[in-house]
Amino acid sequence: MVKQVTVVGAGVMGRGIAYVFALAGFQTTLTDISEEQLNRAQQYVEETAEKGVAKGKVTEEQKAAIVHGLNVTTHLKDAVKQADLIVEAVPEKRELKQAVLEVADEYSPPHAVIASNTSTISPTELGSYTKRSNQTAVMHFFNPVPLMPLVEIVKGLETSQQTVDTIREVSEQIGKETVEVNEFPGFVTSRISALIGNEALHMLQEGVASAEDIDKAVRLGLNFPMGPLELADLVGLDARLNNLRYLHETLGEKYRPAPLLEKLVKAGRLGRKTKQGIYKYD
Ligand SMILES: NC(=O)c1ccc[n+]([C@@H]2O[C@H](COP(=O)([O-])OP(=O)(O)OC[C@H]3O[C@@H](n4cnc5c(N)ncnc54)[C@H](O)[C@@H]3O)[C@@H](O)[C@H]2O)c1
Repeated sequence: MVKQVTVVGAGVMGRGIAYVFALAGFQTTLTDISEEQLNRAQQYVEETAEKGVAKGKVTEEQKAAIVHGLNVTTHLKDAVKQADLIVEAVPEKRELKQAVLEVADEYSPPHAVIASNTSTISPTELGSYTKRSNQTAVMHFFNPVPLMPLVEIVKGLETSQQTVDTIREVSEQIGKETVEVNEFPGFVTSRISALIGNEALHMLQEGVASAEDIDKAVRLGLNFPMGPLELADLVGLDARLNNLRYLHETLGEKYRPAPLLEKLVKAGRLGRKTKQGIYKYD
């Protein structure tokens, strides 16, 4: 049974993942190489809990438990020592994920499940960085984690049914729905989202309509909750470009990144996180 969860990487996704586990009463540890990111994550957790209280979704007791109960540390080895489940959420770079998974494998208890929040990387490959490929899988959350109801569980070649069941159970305990996906580049969601977002960037580049009107058309005409361009800014244009490059390499020509996306990333316009992407933010 999973009681103790360690989340590795306190960025956009990791802090949200730590929040939902802490809210559901799991003993939660959040670890990052950056003290600054951990401080930001603690601030995020406090503010998110506060908003939850204001909306009547979180009690004052829960808020206190989340804020005081969340452990933060820069020491990965210590952070995984007692973990039943480790969720890796470091940037989408193989060498970084490999380094984290190797340490997690070496220092966590033998029964621990090691999951990755990767958007694209093969769970079989991630499993091969450990000596417990049967206990590894992808546990793909969505941004913003507290609001998005889905966890996509992606099985690698060696992932056991027990591992899938464990991830499904904890996902339900944190209030998420799950889908089970077999290994294929981009799973279900990243593949579709990257393709739609890329098409919208091509349209913007071709002058089909303004960014606002492309997003409005998709929201109101196709009933999407967000336009593809505002979503790309939320995801991060660098992350989107990485995903498309990988899908292009593995699935072919239709995923070639739009030249406008390459240009925006070169200019450092990465989306909401840099206050400027396709749109400008205050
Ligand atoms: N951003 C999204 O919308 C989104 C959605 C789903 C999945 N993902 C995936 O989630 C993962 C994380 O993405 P993100 O957007 O949160 O990234 P991010 O850049 O916001 O955060 C990554 C964090 O990892 C930390 N880090 C780097 N190296 C580390 C190490 N060796 N040990 C511990 N911490 C380390 C960084 O300091 C940073 O705080 C990626 O694999 C990404 O593809 C992202």
